[in-house]
Amino acid sequence: MSENVHPKATSVAEFEKAANEKLSEFVRTYYSHPGEGGQTHRDNCRAFKRYRLIPRNLRDVYIRDTSVTVLGSKLDFPVAIAPTAVHKLAHPDAEVATAKGAASMNTSMVLSSWSHCSLEQVAAAAPRGVRWFYLLFYRDRGRMKRLLERAEWAGYTALVLTVDSPIYPFTLRKTPVVFPVQFRLPNVWLDDDVVPGSPGSLEQGSALTKITKNAATWEDVKWVKKNTRLPVVLKGILSGSIPEDARTAVDLGVSGIYVSNHGGREQDGLPATIDVLPDIVRAVGGEAEVYLDGGVRTGTDVLKALALGARCVFIGRPALWGLACNGAEGVQQVLQILKDELSLAMARAGT
Ligand code: FNR
Repeated sequence: MSENVHPKATSVAEFEKAANEKLSEFVRTYYSHPGEGGQTHRDNCRAFKRYRLIPRNLRDVYIRDTSVTVLGSKLDFPVAIAPTAVHKLAHPDAEVATAKGAASMNTSMVLSSWSHCSLEQVAAAAPRGVRWFYLLFYRDRGRMKRLLERAEWAGYTALVLTVDSPIYPFTLRKTPVVFPVQFRLPNVWLDDDVVPGSPGSLEQGSALTKITKNAATWEDVKWVKKNTRLPVVLKGILSGSIPEDARTAVDLGVSGIYVSNHGGREQDGLPATIDVLPDIVRAVGGEAEVYLDGGVRTGTDVLKALALGARCVFIGRPALWGLACNGAEGVQQVLQILKDELSLAMARAGT
């Protein structure tokens, strides 16, 4: 993999193209990986294009403020990085590079449990960055407690529980996945664990099946809330008032409702996130912050999500494309493009 970014990449779409030219077929497929027929994956992007902005003209938009406060942290603009697995597939510096890219733009990154770099390494590499941690559900509460404490100690400021993966994919694995790079999972395995095989192997898959908890419930969310001082965000909420996941979450004291369909990688046939956002914002009624990811590719997409009530949006694949093209700098470039496009879209919309 060469280090140079595609010299003319001035949009997320161009970063996607450049990354896809560079990445191996294995990684390209792993990153796109649309569930079943890919309907939800496609809808996420297309749905944004169905919404129209009605501009207010002749307003003084000379100075535009894109900054936002998210769970008490001030970000320069409302685009942060979603949790995604194994950044080492995109770049040897892995999650450390992503964290540096996000911190250089003063925005937030959610570190996945499925990462090669430990949460402490990521914190040390970008100490000024705003970091959240995506924690898995484990059978052993002691393991959860130790990971919670590590995240708190390392300065993570929120916990993200992904609730749209009731069955972890490795529990279904019948054949091994042979990754083209070697990596470890220091935010899943603890120092005193005996770890069999390599990630992707059937041995490690069955060891993971033994420690993780499939089919987590609201009881698990309540437990996490009780056992951490950090705000809790639920990622993967798609129902607002009927039925009422967003409402139930708010009633439990969850601080952030993160509207997501996992970028279409889990269940296919789910609605586009932007389409369900207004219902969820209504159901939450300002009692928690509402975020969105899935298909955000331009500053105009960001503005539409904000206009429909999201406080902040997250990007999954676009950050990986930036990382693949140019490491930390590539992540920064992708974020800068979205920030500049948002600012321009704000001016044109008169806001
Ligand atoms: C993901 N996503 C994800 N989500 C999560 O909660 N934990 C995880 O470990 C991962 N891993 C992961 C790997 C890869 C390669 C991708 C592409 C995605 C989902 C991710 O957080 C996010 O919801 C989507 O990527 C958002 O859609 P876009 O921005 O990729 O369209």
